[in-house]
Amino acid sequence: MENNIKSLKEEFSKLFGTNRQPIIVRSPGRVNIIGEHTDYNNGFVLPASIDKAAYMAISLRDDDEIHLMAFDLNETFTIALKDLKPVGDISWPNYILGAAAQFQKKNITLKGFNAILSSDVPMGAGLSSSAAVECATVFAINELLQTNLDKVEMVLMAQKAEHEYAGVMCGIMDQFASVMGKRDHVIKLDCRSLEYEYVPFKLDGIKILLLNTNVKHSLASSAYNTRRQECEQAVAWIKEHHPEVHSLRDATEAMLDEYVLPKDALIDMRSRFIVQEIARLQQGCEDLKKGDINALGKKMFATHDGLSKMYAVSCKELDYLVDFVRKNDAVIGARMMGGGFGGCTINLVKEDAIDELVALIKPAYEKEMGLPLTYYIASIENGTEIIS
Ligand code: GLA
Repeated sequence: MENNIKSLKEEFSKLFGTNRQPIIVRSPGRVNIIGEHTDYNNGFVLPASIDKAAYMAISLRDDDEIHLMAFDLNETFTIALKDLKPVGDISWPNYILGAAAQFQKKNITLKGFNAILSSDVPMGAGLSSSAAVECATVFAINELLQTNLDKVEMVLMAQKAEHEYAGVMCGIMDQFASVMGKRDHVIKLDCRSLEYEYVPFKLDGIKILLLNTNVKHSLASSAYNTRRQECEQAVAWIKEHHPEVHSLRDATEAMLDEYVLPKDALIDMRSRFIVQEIARLQQGCEDLKKGDINALGKKMFATHDGLSKMYAVSCKELDYLVDFVRKNDAVIGARMMGGGFGGCTINLVKEDAIDELVALIKPAYEKEMGLPLTYYIASIENGTEIIS
């Protein structure tokens, strides 16, 4: 990345002059070991920030304008502070503008700024490339304006950017992981209280292999919002009898049997997955702490099956990749990761078997699906930071 940072700085001087040197912020993408679609149900998640990240070179301007450039796309965008609102279809400026707008919403006087963005988090791969940009922006503006916001407050602002400027009613996981990540650790996050614990994740001879389907089906964000509503409906039905239940975190399968299943079998199945997944994460996290990685791996496969059959957020490409590795002894656990309908599978694989696995699965997938298969070995790195 050293070279990229150098070219980012050079481009910045070329575009905006040299009178104000930018700061450079790095904000990573994330993986999630287990606990999917549990964040907006107030459950737990187990994510980690990775070595792929968004980089932003940014400095204040003397006027009230925002000048942006997406280095990798060679596109620019300009807007006045007073006109701040979502632009067009979801395009890259929205993640930055949405994050900047959160300062105005907090009645913090926002100033004009110049920013260049570059990212090696693959887009649409389920690695939270958008959260990385939102978090980089909030973190950078906080630094430039010296607003001294605490990290969790910045996480919440970045999440709001996604809600308001990208229209995805996401939970807190992606932004939290990007900002709060810690090298060689996963974060066990309680999405209700936002209490968290770092759990060591350095496994001897095992690596995190991400297999990218290279597909993002168009229903991803609308289906995401629908799932959220389905979960809320289940809670509303339970609440009529148990006012103490505020989210599926508080629900049991017995409650679903009694109050949800008789009303709607589909909503029952969706919410049952969530109740099971919250419990599965708790046990999986204990497996990890005990060093029983095989038990955790089995739960990852179970999560995949639930996401595919009960929560219905998988797709044939993701299912193909998970089914392919299921019988392979070198693969400890695998599942689709993130919101679904495309993106990556996460695989815990014995390091010395990775080359062989890739050599088998890549041509098979490409032949069967007619799409390229790309792969990354992810290492767990620190969360958002100012690097220069
Ligand atoms: C997306 C959302 C997250 C989370 C996951 C599913 O990544 O942004 O908040 O809900 O999907 O676990």
